[in-house]
Amino acid sequence: MPEPLKYVLDESRLPTRWYNVVADLPAPPPPVLHPATHRPVGPDDLAPLFPPALIAQEVTAEREVEIPEPVRDIYRQWRPSPLYRARALERALQTPARLYYKYEGVSPAGSHKPNTAVAQAFYNREAGIRRIATETGAGQWGSSLAYAGARFGIEVQVFMVRVSYDQKPYRRALMETYGARCVPSPSPETAAGRAILARDARHPGSLGIAISEAVEVAAGRDDTKYALGSVLNHVLLHQTVVGLEAMAQMELADDWPDVVIGCTGGGSNFAGIAFPFLGAQLRGGRRVRLLAVEPSACPSLTRGRYAYDFGDTAHLTPLTAMHTLGSTFTPPGFHAGGLRYHGMAPLVSHVKALGLLDAVAYPQTACFAAGLEFARAEGIVPAPEANHAVRAAIDEAIRCREDGVSRAILFNLSGHGHFDMQAYADHLAGRLVDVPYDEAELAMALAGLPSVPPPAPHGRTGSPT
Ligand SMILES: Cc1ncc(COP(=O)(O)O)c(C=O)c1O
Repeated sequence: MPEPLKYVLDESRLPTRWYNVVADLPAPPPPVLHPATHRPVGPDDLAPLFPPALIAQEVTAEREVEIPEPVRDIYRQWRPSPLYRARALERALQTPARLYYKYEGVSPAGSHKPNTAVAQAFYNREAGIRRIATETGAGQWGSSLAYAGARFGIEVQVFMVRVSYDQKPYRRALMETYGARCVPSPSPETAAGRAILARDARHPGSLGIAISEAVEVAAGRDDTKYALGSVLNHVLLHQTVVGLEAMAQMELADDWPDVVIGCTGGGSNFAGIAFPFLGAQLRGGRRVRLLAVEPSACPSLTRGRYAYDFGDTAHLTPLTAMHTLGSTFTPPGFHAGGLRYHGMAPLVSHVKALGLLDAVAYPQTACFAAGLEFARAEGIVPAPEANHAVRAAIDEAIRCREDGVSRAILFNLSGHGHFDMQAYADHLAGRLVDVPYDEAELAMALAGLPSVPPPAPHGRTGSPT
């Protein structure tokens, strides 16, 4: 019998509950603050933007949250997703490491994003909402919500970061195929967009700006809510279906990861694969090293400050404690559009502040080189975002070779790169460069952080003024 290449779970093994890491952390995360009063926000503050079920999930401390049957019915189309043992890559690297990857590119939109898009569309539909506004970076989230909107009969409007809108016309076509409307951001459709265009008509956009536009549209219309593809607690919660499946699959493989790796834009695919393993460790299980991988052109976890900041550029969102580069920071236009966000999920930031995860940053050419190595061995072309996780996993495997030890490395291959072939073509032609961020702009953006006392060490609720 040849050694297995993949570990698949039957549909009947699809998780019935998402996992909430807050229940197992040694300290609760700092509260989210109202931008005017600096007091903790309540459900009423969030009601214009989100349906009640999602607000409840945002603040819950319950360890498990039931996955509604209609959501599981849709998940079953591609879930449980496969866990692969990267034997060909192991051979190519001549490493004694055991390399595993959870492949989320099998979803209809090609990434992990539908795991939360379907759930968010469901809860909005339950609340009678007919329209959702959102932002998208690389287009993965926009196309995922467009798909989920189509499944639940909800109209979707997507503000797509200008630089990605120009780089990825087929992502836009995919959103429109699912019936969504996609506009480049900054756009003339909102006050936030118009203000930025007045200063710079050719502004490349950023996730922070696109979020401002979508929030403005949702806040201004009773029939419209807002959806975010990452960052928020309920998004990370929905993504834990990835890690819960991976735990069962590692058991099938009769193995357990020494290190779990994910790329981090807003933090959702990383948290999705890593938090269930962290929870098992915190409840007395085996220690697992968690490694978050970010782009060195937008390094919120490794170079940002842990502080209260806005989630968007126009300062329409509440203040959250997170690792941030400053909400006015515009990263340079590199190819992993989904990682161009100034902040990090509050929960991922809190876990980092508790010393429970490591973070590393890589430039894009090193990540594309890893993507080529992976594609040539395993056959799957990773999304540029996922290449960051591939880079870190390969480097861990090389370290195993150098140290002569066999460690089990698990990473989240969060999406395929079939819509990103221009970036690969540019890389192959030697046209990709590592654009550093502007140090002066970072200093200015950090200087402009809101004057709120920083979150207290170890996440104890700070003393909001
Ligand atoms: C394939 C893929 N991976 C990762 C990310 C980063 O987002 P997050 O950190 O929320 O997983 C994105 C964002 O668009 C993405 O498309």
